[in-house]
Amino acid sequence: MTVRQCHADEVIALRHMALRPHLRPDEVAFARDSQAGTAHFCAEDDQGHIVYVATVWPEPPPWQPCTTSAWCLRGMATAPEWRRQGVGSSVLEAVLAHVTTTGGRLLWCNATLGARRFYERAGMKKTGEPLEEPFVGTLVAMFKEL
Ligand SMILES: CC(C)(COP(=O)(O)OP(=O)(O)OC[C@H]1O[C@@H](n2cnc3c(N)ncnc32)[C@H](O)[C@@H]1OP(=O)(O)O)[C@@H](O)C(=O)NCCC(=O)NCCS
Repeated sequence: MTVRQCHADEVIALRHMALRPHLRPDEVAFARDSQAGTAHFCAEDDQGHIVYVATVWPEPPPWQPCTTSAWCLRGMATAPEWRRQGVGSSVLEAVLAHVTTTGGRLLWCNATLGARRFYERAGMKKTGEPLEEPFVGTLVAMFKEL
């Protein structure tokens, strides 16, 4: 398993399959995917197949809009056959290292209920009230101070 920073184009297929299957593949790009400062990460298996993707960019959380040095984590997904084998934790570590070394002091995301325990194990805490996202379900804001 290789964890590396990657190009925006490389995260689209798994992001589509695991997180946004109700959209067309050409609709799952985030506006910030190609913005300066945005970083994409992936994990590849021994055959070079991308089995995990995540994207992070500098953005204050909505509950602290004046916070500087905050980063937003989006599009985290492990291919179904690779879940619960530690891949997500390895890539989240790489994301946290990237944010820390670029001066980030806070990482936040809107977590699906199914992923909440995963983020808690990485030291992230819940804040605010859950919100409903059409086609995605209930999301809860989570953060970690770095
Ligand atoms: C959430 C998600 C990214 C986690 O990725 P992952 O690669 O499965 O993460 P890990 O394997 O590191 O950890 C997941 C669980 O497996 C467990 N695990 C890790 N290695 C394990 C192993 N070798 N054997 C058994 N269980 C293991 C961990 O303890 C963890 O348990 P927890 O969630 O109860 O804390 C993945 O489940 C996913 O893609 N879900 C669907 C999309 C989604 O909801 N994304 C999040 C959007 S916010």
